[in-house]
Amino acid sequence: VKDPRIDGIKTKIRVVPDFPKKGIMFQDITTLLLDPKAFKDTIDLFVERYRHMNISVVAEARGFIFGTPIALAIGAKFVPLRKPKKLPGEIIFEEYELEYGSDRLEMHVEAVDSGDRALVVDDLIATGGTLCAAMNLLRRVGADVVECACVIELPELNGRERLEGKPLYVLVEYR
Ligand code: PRP
Repeated sequence: VKDPRIDGIKTKIRVVPDFPKKGIMFQDITTLLLDPKAFKDTIDLFVERYRHMNISVVAEARGFIFGTPIALAIGAKFVPLRKPKKLPGEIIFEEYELEYGSDRLEMHVEAVDSGDRALVVDDLIATGGTLCAAMNLLRRVGADVVECACVIELPELNGRERLEGKPLYVLVEYR
């Protein structure tokens, strides 16, 4: 049964054609953030799902908008996965492909312990490259990736196939 809050969330995500380049239907979550009710519903849905799953670390790449309030609410530490040259401590990195272009994610090695139970959060899964790189970073330091969670999935890009069977929880699919 679909949660009645999902439709309210979906209507607040603005879809911008041909941004940042022709052929891309950009999913703009900034309009969701402008609506405190829809933003709170988004966080609440994730928190309700993860609060009793013994998650000890929440990791998110580049944005940190959704992962940080989830981590606070469920009592987990938050680990930012950042673009190059932002983290001063000892890091490991993974190269990853974006829907348009490629990039690299870095993580502080000492932030995650072997045996940590990790939730990987992102606003959107397109090709799955970002989540795949994020999961690899966590695995390399011995964490158990319990699940990935996204606000939006573009199912036609088959990003799920890059997750190697790891569960993916999404609120909104855009076709
Ligand atoms: C978007 C989004 C995800 C990523 C998902 O980021 O925020 O992080 O794409 O795409 P993937 O599943 O193909 O990896 P965007 O490309 O807008 O750039 P960003 O990483 O700077 O947020």
